[in-house]
Amino acid sequence: MSGLVIRAIGVGKTYRVGASVVEAVRAFDLEVKRGEFVTLMGPSGCGKSTLLNLFGCIDTPSSGRLEVFGSDVAAMTEAQRASVRLHRVGFVFQRFYLLPVLTALENVELPMIEARPSLASS
Ligand SMILES: Nc1ncnc2c1ncn2[C@@H]1O[C@H](COP(=O)(O)OP(=O)(O)O)[C@@H](O)[C@H]1O
Ligand SMILES: [Mg+2]
Repeated sequence: MSGLVIRAIGVGKTYRVGASVVEAVRAFDLEVKRGEFVTLMGPSGCGKSTLLNLFGCIDTPSSGRLEVFGSDVAAMTEAQRASVRLHRVGFVFQRFYLLPVLTALENVELPMIEARPSLASS
């Protein structure tokens, strides 16, 4: 365990679009310690959202090594990455991704039911 929240070493991410490959992030290095406040700035299309998706375990890197809370993201199972998203990472998305058939309160409650099984029966 490195004790770091994020440790990125030479991280790359490519997207395949039809026959072509888009290189969204190339050889990215970063270390974020617990309690640090970090902002990621750059022009549209430079790869900010791609990096946040990687740090939040929504996506996995194409190359390099990425550790989130000391775990190698590429080695995590889908369920392990889902658990990190549920319990350890907070995301404020550009779009809200609310479920339209639920009320605002129910949208907030839904992930809490999954995170705290003891609340589900109350
Ligand atoms: N799902 C995707 N499929 C293909 N290309 C993508 C995808 N997401 C992002 N890209 C491309 O990767 C690059 C970085 O995008 P992105 O991470 O969204 O940048 P930013 O958030 O800084 O605007 C851009 O060239 C974008 O078009
Ligand atoms: Mg973006």
